[in-house]
Amino acid sequence: MDTVALQSRRIVSGMRPTGQLHLGHYHGVLKNWVKLQHEFDCFFFVADWHALTTHYEDSGVIEDSVWEMVIDWLAAGIEPSAASLFLQSKVPEHAELHLLLSMMTPLSWLERVPTYKDQQEKLKEKDLSTYGFLGYPLLQSADILIYRAGQVPVGEDQVAHVELTREVARRFNHLYGREKDFEEKATAAIKKMGKKNAKLYNNLRKSYQEQGDAEALATARELLKNQQNLALGDMERLFGYLEGAGKVILPEPTSLLTPASKMPGLDGQKMSKSYGNTISLREPEDSLADKIKRMPTDTNRVRRSDPGDPDRCPVWQLHEVYADEDQKQWVQEGCRSAGIGCLDCKGPLIDAVSAELRPMRERANDLSEHPEDVRRIIDDGTAKAREVAQETLTEVRTAMGLTYK
Ligand code: TRP
Ligand code: SF4
Repeated sequence: MDTVALQSRRIVSGMRPTGQLHLGHYHGVLKNWVKLQHEFDCFFFVADWHALTTHYEDSGVIEDSVWEMVIDWLAAGIEPSAASLFLQSKVPEHAELHLLLSMMTPLSWLERVPTYKDQQEKLKEKDLSTYGFLGYPLLQSADILIYRAGQVPVGEDQVAHVELTREVARRFNHLYGREKDFEEKATAAIKKMGKKNAKLYNNLRKSYQEQGDAEALATARELLKNQQNLALGDMERLFGYLEGAGKVILPEPTSLLTPASKMPGLDGQKMSKSYGNTISLREPEDSLADKIKRMPTDTNRVRRSDPGDPDRCPVWQLHEVYADEDQKQWVQEGCRSAGIGCLDCKGPLIDAVSAELRPMRERANDLSEHPEDVRRIIDDGTAKAREVAQETLTEVRTAMGLTYK
């Protein structure tokens, strides 16, 4: 069953606060968020609880990175008027939903998520045989489901977590989407659409259920989405009723795969803190120039008069990100003919990175001087997030029979 995310315009994504952001984050994630914020109803949050699963022994890093991360987001162009920004731990509804979902999530589903074993292997120096770490992807499911998000922008490595989220949502709806008087409530809801639409809905439902007509299903869903006078609860019933199931309380989200970026670092490997090859988003001008000047080049080019090969040079990889066609040609020809030296070659690169970072550095400096502005942005975002989260949680509690006083 592929239940449609009702709020398909809503997207949710989080980032773990475990250190300073660098150009790899910008080109890999943030640039995409900046674009999405104008196309969707976005909820972006600092996943501080997720950071704790791997950094519980040195939680100080988290404390130091949380506000800096928000500053970096804003500096990179995330606009608080376009996206709701908040901290995970300020919306305790995530935790309650995580707990409730944990009751019905089979252990084996969590054990077989690929990142579970991979990360334990990779981070051998840490003891990750904890309850919290096993539950990492389920906490992520709660992050997503609490907003009933339609799509989740993530990188390839996180797709399995969104898959798990779908399975958990399906199981939840299966277990708790059944109301005693579901059939009667659904029938009553259909009537509320008016004669014409009710008839259309019934016919489409019949075509889907009797002939498996997928187009009829899609049309019926569109029809439902456009019903202004249906309450959310009725809408969910009718989405579920289409497929003969119960109410859809937690819609299944899909991954919105972030276009792969292999932002190269200073040594030609992927830019990553663990390789020590990063340029930070707030890299000062002089240290930026210095870092690029020190970059290794084609090792066969020993003397200035030796021709080089850009394919063997990390500097070229950065040119591929920043240079226009003319500049690329200038590098290719100049390098292969020894017409330019490596420092000449690095000049326009320093200029390009510097031009990209300058406005970010300035915005970040401004924000650092006004921490109260940053807090206010987070307070506003948190309020918006909690409103949605509380609404979902109320429905979840009701469905599970947890409303006794
Ligand atoms: N696990 C994600 C990562 O490491 C961060 C994250 C936490 C997240 N909760 C989320 C991403 C919810 C998307 C949606 O990148
Ligand atoms: Fe690399 Fe440029 Fe030097 Fe060629 S000229 S080796 S591309 S830095």
